Amino acid sequence: QQRVFSGVQPTGNLHLGNYLGAIKRFAELQDSYDCIYCVVDMHAITQDMRVWGGPDELRRNIREVTAAYLAAGIDAERHIVFNQSQVAGHAELAWVFNCVARLGWLNRMTQFKEKAGKDRENASVGLYAYPTLMAADILLYRATHVPVGEDQKQHLELTRDIAQKFNNDFGPSIAAQGLGESYFPLPEPLIGGPAARVMSLRDGSKKMSKSDPSDLSRINLTDDADAIASKVRRAKTDSEPLPSEVEGLRPRPEAENLVGIYAALSGTTPAEVLQQFGAGQFSTFKGALVDLAVAKLGPIGAEMKRLVADPGHIDAVLQKGGERARVLADETMRQVKDIVGFVR
Ligand code: TYM
Repeated sequence: QQRVFSGVQPTGNLHLGNYLGAIKRFAELQDSYDCIYCVVDMHAITQDMRVWGGPDELRRNIREVTAAYLAAGIDAERHIVFNQSQVAGHAELAWVFNCVARLGWLNRMTQFKEKAGKDRENASVGLYAYPTLMAADILLYRATHVPVGEDQKQHLELTRDIAQKFNNDFGPSIAAQGLGESYFPLPEPLIGGPAARVMSLRDGSKKMSKSDPSDLSRINLTDDADAIASKVRRAKTDSEPLPSEVEGLRPRPEAENLVGIYAALSGTTPAEVLQQFGAGQFSTFKGALVDLAVAKLGPIGAEMKRLVADPGHIDAVLQKGGERARVLADETMRQVKDIVGFVR
């Protein structure tokens, strides 16, 4: 059976990009794969504490991401939902991968450069090693498919490079343990559709992000109908009517973004959206987008609020998921230790 793994950081402000690029697709994959969905709390603390908010905020955000998974329709009985720090194998395998990955590979990571900013000397070692922990998340379960937004593509390529180098370096040992010719699969990224990269509502050249200081730049999953309506109405656009063909969207990133959001929310394509709204006024299209966004996101936000009001239930879901994940992780770690030559 093919296995899906993916994760979301509990760093607050879950937004439409997280939903359309990741969480909505997590739910859609449930009938075709065995799925493991993780709240990556160990990744959350790689940035400055002012960014992730400290212990109370972290606990709240772990429960909020879990609530978003459940509200989006992820079935925690059939699949595995848990938080990363519960399963020690993530950190253990990440250490092995720190010794497989090369400095030169990590030096190329654009997300580190963006997040570290100008003051690189002051970035945490964890932020630098972030991608090896992400590779460990995926490969600890020997996952074959990883649904993510476009911004995670480079990290997935690194994950494949790490898997390949491990398989090569330890090839004879893998064979000697009777584990076949290679141990880790090379996981396939599942990136795509009209919302693989949702852009800021204020600037079509920047991606929608949790950390943008302007709340008007993003639609949060917990925004109410009024907030959604006012953010969509105030979203930046140019003054031209919508084009009739998708080619006409290329030089117009703000228009392209809103059409992509509409397509993803309605399960259609940008071409179909333009068949309906092309050549019409922007205001008409925005009105329809407000109705659609409120209809699709409203129930999710309401369900999230209901779920986080009962932290006991959420914690029980995470604990049960952690136990099931640990069974799989322990098996991999026993084999990895034998392959590497650690005595146990
Ligand atoms: P994170 O927490 O930043 O984002 C969670 C998911 O949301 C996607 N995403 C977007 N998609 C479309 N448009 C956007 N504007 C947008 N912003 C965010 C992200 O691509 C991601 O899929 N490194 C990961 C978390 C992670 C992970 C993993 C993912 C840790 N280990 C293992 C997959 C497998 C991250 O920071 O996601």
